[in-house]
Amino acid sequence: MPPLSGLLIPRHQLPAHSPLPGGLLLPALRHLVHAAADPRPRLAALLCQTHGADQALLLASGTQCLAVALRRAAAATGSAAVALPAFTCFDVATAAVAADLRIALYDVDPVTLGPDLESLRRTLQAGVRIAVVAPLYGMPVDWDSVVDSTAATAPYLIEDAAQGHGATWAGRPLGSFGAAAVLSFARGKGWTGGSGGALLVRDRSGDGASLTSRGAGLAAEVAVFLRAAGQSWLSDPMWYGIPAGLPWLGLGETRYREPRPTRPMTRVAAELLLRSREPALREAETRRARARALNARNPAAEHSRPLRPPAGGTPGALRLPLRLSRGMAGFPDQRLARRLGVAAGYPSTLAELPAVRRRLLPGQHRWVGADALVRELVTLPMHSLVEPGDTEALVGLLRTYCG
Ligand SMILES: Cc1ncc(COP(=O)(O)O)c(C=O)c1O
Repeated sequence: MPPLSGLLIPRHQLPAHSPLPGGLLLPALRHLVHAAADPRPRLAALLCQTHGADQALLLASGTQCLAVALRRAAAATGSAAVALPAFTCFDVATAAVAADLRIALYDVDPVTLGPDLESLRRTLQAGVRIAVVAPLYGMPVDWDSVVDSTAATAPYLIEDAAQGHGATWAGRPLGSFGAAAVLSFARGKGWTGGSGGALLVRDRSGDGASLTSRGAGLAAEVAVFLRAAGQSWLSDPMWYGIPAGLPWLGLGETRYREPRPTRPMTRVAAELLLRSREPALREAETRRARARALNARNPAAEHSRPLRPPAGGTPGALRLPLRLSRGMAGFPDQRLARRLGVAAGYPSTLAELPAVRRRLLPGQHRWVGADALVRELVTLPMHSLVEPGDTEALVGLLRTYCG
């Protein structure tokens, strides 16, 4: 018999899942009254060790970390513009706006989901000295190729590994490359503390620790605790239909958000991250195994176009990306697809955001790869809450796909 929730709300699968067992909340509660040592220095030290960084700056979100990385890069290079991928999370644009930089866009290779190297090179040759490279859905980027192909201009490379949890390239976790790298610990990023982000610095130029030691304030600590508790309790396909059905939460939607002031990570988030690290690593292993199994079955073969991780890279399968000829529109029953955790990629290129247009440098304004990804990309859930019956339903759904 289905549990009571199943009778009242239809089961709704999460597109991505970050384990946050309820038992971890109690120890985090102590930080509301500062009844335990500040966990943030321990988290910063751990990230420096695992990702080979000199300093780690812990802030309230990945977007804020990227904005700080961009400000530092602008100060180091004297550049007032940044090259961004044309197809990526809109928060990347938010960070460039927060750093008050002009924007040049480069195309994304629809086969690797990494930079179109020729387009990136051309963009940098026009005089831009900072570039953000953002691996998508845990698909690693061949970092050596990026460095080699941009050697002539030697830009300041920022690796935005917000979606990189569980993925490696050349045997190292994503976030280990670039003069600066960004991690996100938001809800759908594989490893969560309710929210939060880390800026990992390898350029030895700065003042990384200064914000970490600042208090986040009781209101911020309580807000993150409540958010984490909500995520922990509602991250169950039996209950997820409730928040997913509330339009003002905008779950599963990509919206442009205005920049917010820079805030330190809360102690609550840091404690949760330290305690959920092992479950998150196990979860990533599950995702990778499931992605291998599903790729081997290739149920939408006739409608899918190839995606290829680089040699030496292991995708983290945060969500399994597929390129289907008509994207979400090809599913005869799109509501059912969404209930099974299928999600669309980004609804437009960054070029279509008014906030980006106002800052766009003159030059090439066609992004063929990015446009293809807007049309075609969908993702499937690979996490441990996907049950065998869900997988069969997904496979069945892909077999009915209309290309
Ligand atoms: C590529 C990328 N960069 C940055 C961010 C921003 O991270 P946060 O949600 O922690 O602000 C995201 C979040 O979705 C992302 O996908």
